Amino acid sequence: MSGVQEQTTAATMWQEDAGRDLVRNAGDRMALFVRGEGSSLWDADGRRYLDFLGGIAVTSLGHAHPVFVDAVARQAATLSHVSNFFATPPQLALAAELKRLTGAGDAGRVYFANSGAEANEAAFKLARLHGAAGGAADGARAPRPRILALKDAFHGRTMGTLALTGKPYMQAPFLPMVPGVEFLDSAVEALEAAMGDDVAALFVEPIKGEAGVVPLPEGYLAAAREITARHGALLIIDEIQTGAGRTGAWFAFQHEGIVPDAITVAKGIGGGFPIGALITFGAASDLFYPGTHGSTFGGNPLATATSLAVLGEIERAGLVENAAVRGVQLRAAIESLASPLIEGCRGRGLLLGVALRHPVAGAVVAAAQQHGLIVNAANDSTVRIAPALTIGDVEIDEFVDLFARALSTVADALVLDDTETPTSTPEASA
Ligand SMILES: Cc1ncc(COP(=O)(O)O)c(C=O)c1O
Repeated sequence: MSGVQEQTTAATMWQEDAGRDLVRNAGDRMALFVRGEGSSLWDADGRRYLDFLGGIAVTSLGHAHPVFVDAVARQAATLSHVSNFFATPPQLALAAELKRLTGAGDAGRVYFANSGAEANEAAFKLARLHGAAGGAADGARAPRPRILALKDAFHGRTMGTLALTGKPYMQAPFLPMVPGVEFLDSAVEALEAAMGDDVAALFVEPIKGEAGVVPLPEGYLAAAREITARHGALLIIDEIQTGAGRTGAWFAFQHEGIVPDAITVAKGIGGGFPIGALITFGAASDLFYPGTHGSTFGGNPLATATSLAVLGEIERAGLVENAAVRGVQLRAAIESLASPLIEGCRGRGLLLGVALRHPVAGAVVAAAQQHGLIVNAANDSTVRIAPALTIGDVEIDEFVDLFARALSTVADALVLDDTETPTSTPEASA
């Protein structure tokens, strides 16, 4: 078959193939993408889209960045895998780099995984080790059976991380959960009330991405640090969506000037190559001991060499600063759009949620795609934006134009009445 014929077949048959062959854990796939470059994606029909989702905060350098491509190719041609019975230079170099960028310091340690959920599984086990009688890093002998997490926060889909995820509808089909996790409102008073010397850890997301890009209240992280420290509980921060420069700091906790006991990272540190990591600070670094955890692929030289190159390019090109500056610019541009649908904008840096006045985020996303723009509905009334950290004026101008058109398409299709919520989500049309 020629390349052209293959392309035509792919373009016409893929929805049928996907419907028949892929597990139905996700909804219908929205497009068949065959190529990417920078902030552009192309589908099987050759149509170009502006990508302002970045694989949900993953492709930090955009698509097919030469640094990423070169790192993968070079490492694949050098050494792609050895068992964790052995170390490799990229693995050691990335561990040192993550310790430097997080400020974990000499006492810090890094556990490598392959995804965000796996990094959080490791963090869950870290909390259990801390909570085990006699095993507590603070020297306490009494067990700490309780783990605290926040309502509506998301930490992953594996059984352990689902147990940490404060979304009852996600847990319901898979009960019973791993026990011991309690969910709190994201308020300092709720934390004070729940905290005790029997708590092993508090898990938090600095900005709840899956909940609709909802930042923690001002001052919460600093208070959480003080309260957890007072009771000898670990503060574990999930930076899987917020890390790698996305919010305009290397890691979101750094905006608050605190030192956590552990953080988890994934997504953006690999720029598109699957990798996750748990980074421990201080005494929490001594909790794991031989035989307590492991992963065949975790810390694989291909993944670590690529992540090292991605982080190096983020630093060299000043992309953390770019995320801060472009985030402010993008937010101002969105807020100045005269759309009756927009209520406001949440988030920080290049992780933004556009809050809508009506539950039409799905329709806005569909309309955006028809206009050639990829964004995502974090929930019914929030459109999530997480573009490459490389974006500049050109991408922002194009985004504003396409997003405004998508909003108009949906607003025009709705019979909007200021006093009424629309009862149906219209089919968006171009
Ligand atoms: C905050 C947070 N934690 C954990 C995860 C799970 O990561 P993964 O999908 O790589 O398992 C995600 C993914 O969206 C996330 O946003």
